[in-house]
Amino acid sequence: MSSPVWHPFTQHALTPDMKLVATGEGAWLTTADGVRILDAISSWWVITHGHCHPRIVAAIKEQAGKLDQVIFAGYTHQPAEDVARGLIGITPNGLSHVFFSDSGSTAVEVALKMALGFWRGRGKPRHRIIALEHAYHGDTIGAMAAGARGIFNAGYESLLFEVDRLPFPSDGGKETLAGLERLAPDAAALIAEPLLLGAGGMLTYAPEILAAMKRTCEKHGTLFIADEVLTGFGRTGTVFACEQAGIAPDLLCLAKGLSGGALPLAATLATEEIFAAHYSTDRARTFFHSSSFTANPIACAAAAANLEIWKSEPVRQRVAALAGMQEERLGAFQNDSRFSALRRIGTVTALDLKVSDPGYLSAGRGAGLGPELARFFQARGLLLRPLGNTIYVMPPYCVTAPELDLVYDAIRDAAGKFV
Ligand SMILES: Cc1ncc(COP(=O)(O)O)c(C=O)c1O
Repeated sequence: MSSPVWHPFTQHALTPDMKLVATGEGAWLTTADGVRILDAISSWWVITHGHCHPRIVAAIKEQAGKLDQVIFAGYTHQPAEDVARGLIGITPNGLSHVFFSDSGSTAVEVALKMALGFWRGRGKPRHRIIALEHAYHGDTIGAMAAGARGIFNAGYESLLFEVDRLPFPSDGGKETLAGLERLAPDAAALIAEPLLLGAGGMLTYAPEILAAMKRTCEKHGTLFIADEVLTGFGRTGTVFACEQAGIAPDLLCLAKGLSGGALPLAATLATEEIFAAHYSTDRARTFFHSSSFTANPIACAAAAANLEIWKSEPVRQRVAALAGMQEERLGAFQNDSRFSALRRIGTVTALDLKVSDPGYLSAGRGAGLGPELARFFQARGLLLRPLGNTIYVMPPYCVTAPELDLVYDAIRDAAGKFV
């Protein structure tokens, strides 16, 4: 099928054909020609309860007939008010203000700008940002700058501002913490994905290290930005990953699962101190950021419905049950020498295929290992999109045990073909 559409993170010369998806329900997608595909990565990590959850669909329909869009400067609306209050109620203590935007990347841009605005407002400007090795924070310029340098952004290096980079916290995080201790006194903020670095390779680290990173920031007055765009809304086993470390960030970035994955909506939550540093009769201290669709009422209605689902349905139990099912299935790979680095956090598992050239650009054959694996899984009716030789499973919380078996059987067979 020839199409004028230019797809994201897609090398069209190697992957010319797109599946035309017509419908989604629960953990399944169905193509226009009737092929069912199990969505084992929650459609790029956004879908939490399943596709087209009836309560979210109903909220969208109802809101669409009432108010589609309204400027969000000088005006507000009930769905945004409900979501903001709901978020304050379920996020770690101390976050008191909610700024809406449209994607994970913009939630990060907002957090970085608020961090600098905080220091400027206090009359003691700090400009530097600290970030982790292997970090991924999105694809807008500021978010890319905070992300690890590599294949995703090498072509745009000249546009990126410099950040201070900490080693990934492996081996107890000693080097990471020592680096942070050295850099924090001059830094505006540390930005980090709590417990799970997603696009950097589904890498995990311990809650104790996260807690120690936060303590070091506190000691030097450096702001801590938690990028929970991926980890938020249950993925790591708790509603937010920060909970496992018992920490409250100064700025919290949310997107993906905020609307249950149904519509693009993001939020950056901030403490009273950060809001206060911008609060003034001096218009120059305004937080100068917006996008046309900030807090779109329909997206907010979806998010309000999502928050209600977290309150009234046994979502936490579903998350715990999925974590158990994932652990069990991953365990069966323990002695399979074709795999290494088996890991699980909450509902997410990952394992690496042992190949001679690991990494995102692992060559394999044809279009490269990652795309070839994705094609292999697609032919088995599964949506998996490995990061090079790293295969990960991040299904919506409604997935069943037999459905997960389909996924892991295919992963085992993939090793037979590709290792
Ligand atoms: C941790 C993290 N931050 C930010 C982003 C960017 O989000 P978006 O793709 O919605 O801009 C992502 C996307 O995968 C992410 O995983």
